Amino acid sequence: MDLYPLFRSMAFKQDPEKAHENTLRLAKMLPFTSKIFGQENWDQKTYELDVAGLKWSFPIGLAAGLDKDAVGLRFFEGLGFGAIEVGTVTPKAQPGNDKPRLFRYPEESSLRNRMGFNNHGSEFLKKNIIAHPISKILGANLGKNKITAAADAPSDYQMLYKDLAPVVDYLVINVSSPNTPGLRDLQNEEMLSEILQAVGEERAKCPKPLFLKIAPDLASSDIASIVKVCVDNQLSGIVATNTTKIESLGDGGVSGQLLRQRSREVRSWVLKETKGLSDFEVIGVGGVDSYEDLREFWKLGGKVMQIYTSFIYKGPNLLQEIKNQIDDEMEQQGVQDLKSLTERLHQSH
Ligand SMILES: Cc1cc2nc3c(=O)[nH]c(=O)nc-3n(C[C@H](O)[C@H](O)[C@H](O)COP(=O)(O)O)c2cc1C
Repeated sequence: MDLYPLFRSMAFKQDPEKAHENTLRLAKMLPFTSKIFGQENWDQKTYELDVAGLKWSFPIGLAAGLDKDAVGLRFFEGLGFGAIEVGTVTPKAQPGNDKPRLFRYPEESSLRNRMGFNNHGSEFLKKNIIAHPISKILGANLGKNKITAAADAPSDYQMLYKDLAPVVDYLVINVSSPNTPGLRDLQNEEMLSEILQAVGEERAKCPKPLFLKIAPDLASSDIASIVKVCVDNQLSGIVATNTTKIESLGDGGVSGQLLRQRSREVRSWVLKETKGLSDFEVIGVGGVDSYEDLREFWKLGGKVMQIYTSFIYKGPNLLQEIKNQIDDEMEQQGVQDLKSLTERLHQSH
């Protein structure tokens, strides 16, 4: 039985950020409650996909921003995600923007947030990661502090990489949140090169897969130059996309179904631009809420995706639903594992 609709109807009676905090508190104190949402035990080998040398046990990961400080790792691990991305973490703790800063649009299955990287800083995150080791792939999403000037951004990212690379499986440089003034300007070729070079110095000492998370509000011409900088700096891939700006709704970034079209378009540009680069992965995120989204992504050559907003609206059962649809399609196509299915769909496209 899916208990999530009941849970959601209670949570949606609360202020969105309060509901979020209360849920994380529960996840932290009672991690085994993930089991009451009724996930089957999956044979992980069947669904395993290799992403930059890391084995995701399921093609859907938890997107950054939901468990910024890694307080509920065991809970999220128990829900069946193939990977969990914590952060955005900044070098020092910071409170984020004024409240209210998280808004629901239930009719559109969407959210808008202007959180502003509220988090407890990298030391706190690291302690939590070490205290609660998990068997799933763990990523850390890195951001600069609000008070750090743009010119000093490379050293914030460098410091974070140095601090966290030893305790996570992959890292993501986030220059695409709309909620830190000037952050998205770091996506320009010159600043991006500086950041990636600074991080590269630490990466040479502790090599881990490294990704760049981009905004959906880019032109296709920007994508080509971003991909070039990433490839020149031996990045493992791109996470596409972060939230989008919709002026008519107010400030902040919009996620969920209102972002879906835009994000899909940018993902397809990135996949096209990186076609033929054998060691370059695209992690898809933005408005993903069904097996169809994954299927379309596989056809275009992608492998794994992440969710945030659809998880809030649909709950953990979404993972089970997707798993069942994967099973159906594997049977129809006569293949035994997900790797073969994704390759077949890509080739037939
Ligand atoms: C409340 C909220 C907070 C977020 N915080 C972060 C963050 O700290 N870092 C980040 O890279 N993305 C953050 N995101 C963006 C998500 O990781 C994701 O890229 C975006 O929401 C699109 O996916 P979705 O449509 O599945 O939600 C946040 C999203 C939401 C809704």
